[in-house]
Amino acid sequence: MSDNDFQAEITARYDAPMYRAMLEVWGDQIHPGLLESDDEELYPAAVKATTRLAELADIQRGSHVLETACGVGGTARLLARDFDCHVTATNISKGQLETANEWTQGKPGAERITYAFANFEELGYDDASFDVYWCQDALLFSTARSTAMAEAARVVKPGGTVAITDLTVVGEPTGETADLMAGISKPGFWSMEGYVAALDEAGFDLMTAEDWTRHVLPSFLRIRADMIAKKDQLIAIAGPDEVEDTIARYHHWCDAAATGHLGWAAVTGRKRET
Ligand SMILES: C[S@@+](CC[C@H](N)C(=O)[O-])C[C@H]1O[C@@H](n2cnc3c(N)ncnc32)[C@H](O)[C@@H]1O
Repeated sequence: MSDNDFQAEITARYDAPMYRAMLEVWGDQIHPGLLESDDEELYPAAVKATTRLAELADIQRGSHVLETACGVGGTARLLARDFDCHVTATNISKGQLETANEWTQGKPGAERITYAFANFEELGYDDASFDVYWCQDALLFSTARSTAMAEAARVVKPGGTVAITDLTVVGEPTGETADLMAGISKPGFWSMEGYVAALDEAGFDLMTAEDWTRHVLPSFLRIRADMIAKKDQLIAIAGPDEVEDTIARYHHWCDAAATGHLGWAAVTGRKRET
């Protein structure tokens, strides 16, 4: 499968009814949460992860954030409301951008948010035009992550910051575990150390690198359990076949997380002045 075909597959997936259905499980934060056990609720723990990333990135009130892969705008609304940020929130899923726009109408800080179509591997913005580059749990879908990192460095002002969370590979899985990891990420995962090195290469000094791996298994167990509990609701939106396929996919995510090789990391950096 070519990189373009893969990109088209991702766009189709996020524009499909099944991902509209998955919002019944995720709410507007489409990523794992800082859960300690799968008894905890997903949504507040996912919001906690977003707020923690904002603290780690030392987000300043009033700053202009470029968010890539913004999902349905949950983080854009949080940053605009709680940090007075101006947010340009971008995505390649037109369906999600429509939902994001709809869900932002009348919300606190809505006037500080602009949604736009943009591919994080080829951002159509001027050099040094943002204070912050932000991307949560989406670069795992990139087949050109170094290019995406170079784009982050290009659009951020010197002294500005980068804030990234992503699912990662921990250690060097072999055999069945390697197959399982390859099955859930076609481009393959980067490690947290890989992100640290890539940000340095792109022109950022490391601020923080936090390992959130212990939250991955409780998060995926919780997501799978919520999907099963809400199955009828999901089927009404996306149909039985799609729902069964997606639950099967989440079994793989849980299995991968249980091996300890599926990690999660939050990495922040500051763009060098020269
Ligand atoms: C797991 S969701 C995360 C959404 C959001 N960051 C959040 O945490 O709520 C992954 C997102 O990546 C977006 N995405 C995938 N490939 C992309 C690309 N090349 N450029 C921009 N967005 C992309 C998808 O459309 C989807 O919104």
